[in-house]
Amino acid sequence: MAAPLIRSALPSDEAAWRALWRGYCDFYAAQVGDATTDRTWKRILDPDSAILCMVAEVEGKVYGFANCVVHENTWEIQPVCYLEDLYVIPAARGHGIGKAMIEWLSNAMRAEGWARLYWVTHQDNANARALYDRFAPTDGFVRYVIRQRQL
Ligand SMILES: CC(C)(COP(=O)(O)OP(=O)(O)OC[C@H]1O[C@@H](n2cnc3c(N)ncnc32)[C@H](O)[C@@H]1OP(=O)(O)O)[C@@H](O)C(=O)NCCC(=O)NCCS
Repeated sequence: MAAPLIRSALPSDEAAWRALWRGYCDFYAAQVGDATTDRTWKRILDPDSAILCMVAEVEGKVYGFANCVVHENTWEIQPVCYLEDLYVIPAARGHGIGKAMIEWLSNAMRAEGWARLYWVTHQDNANARALYDRFAPTDGFVRYVIRQRQL
């Protein structure tokens, strides 16, 4: 497989992004409502939104995405970038697309002046962890969540 082109999502990526997003939600067995999906896509395209999306394209086809949220924090003056969703279609995994997207974001961190790029994954997500362990050690923090409602 040729090296992927990593770029910001464009309006013309909508169908591809939605198909990938369905795959990502299925991976997590998550029922994300249409209104939420519609809003997320709108926020991705809105230059005033804190949500960013990079897609990975190979020979004109989109194989993966990285959805991020850039936000303020109390520990640094600069904003930080939370990589919230990373997904590559099953048929294209193991070819370096996930790695290319994280490398792209690491470069963007320096270019944009984000203080940190960070993400979480399930401790049993072996494929994801095999990739992530190449970038940084885990920091030992454990996530706690209280939900107002279930998805
Ligand atoms: C995690 C994920 C994004 C990785 O994407 P990817 O394009 O397959 O990652 P890469 O090809 O860059 O992987 C690099 C390393 O990760 C490992 N790896 C990750 N997924 C793999 C897979 N499905 N098959 C083989 N190796 C995989 C390998 O160790 C690989 O190292 P190698 O190049 O020495 O073989 C992808 O597996 C995925 O979308 N999974 C389902 C959703 C998910 O878990 N997202 C992350 C949630 S936090």
